[in-house]
Amino acid sequence: MTKRVVVGVTGASGAPYTIRLIQLLMEKGVEVHLCVSGLGKRLLFEESGVKKLNAEELGVSAFNSNLVLHNDRDLGAPIASGTFLHDGMIVLPCSSNTLGSIASGITSTLVQRAALVCLKERRKLVLGHRESPLSLIDIENIKRTTEAGAIVAPLSPGFYMNPVTISDVVDFMVGKLVDLLDIDHEMPVRWG
Ligand SMILES: Cc1cc2nc3c(=O)[nH]c(=O)nc-3n(C[C@H](O)[C@H](O)[C@H](O)COP(=O)(O)O)c2cc1C
Repeated sequence: MTKRVVVGVTGASGAPYTIRLIQLLMEKGVEVHLCVSGLGKRLLFEESGVKKLNAEELGVSAFNSNLVLHNDRDLGAPIASGTFLHDGMIVLPCSSNTLGSIASGITSTLVQRAALVCLKERRKLVLGHRESPLSLIDIENIKRTTEAGAIVAPLSPGFYMNPVTISDVVDFMVGKLVDLLDIDHEMPVRWG
């Protein structure tokens, strides 16, 4: 059966991770439900030159039919409901703002709402948080979301596979995240 993953993108640094993740999921035949916050759109543009959200700009036109875009302001979208069945959600990158909203249980965007739905439905939720250094507020929000069932995966790539290019670093981090979603891949992440 086709796997279905919700990908939320928020306004933290790390757009190359997002693009590589979407490409990898789609290469693997996963149906991707993509929702990008306002600041997430800005980061996709600033860091990866994505001007418009579509399959072509994201480099996945070959798999266009498996990409479903959702408006972050549309709290009535299918992914806002627990009745929408899927295999997990990843927020990549996850800003401290979105982390805090999820931790508080108060949501005003579709990314935040879809993430909270994962927690109430006991579905997989991976938060690729990026901020440095961390305030005590971030640390407490990481603890709270973890206790509620989320997996907080800080965007801190390892270097033990001896990366040479930025793309190697990105592939490593994305491979680790896709492991958390239980999707098979051939990214170079395995020591030994
Ligand atoms: C260029 C740029 C880089 C940013 N990088 C980060 C970051 O790495 N981590 C973070 O938590 N916020 C970062 N921010 C701030 C967030 O975008 C801001 O808190 C915003 O309210 C997040 O909204 P969202 O969670 O709805 O996307 C950045 C903002 C800009 C403009």
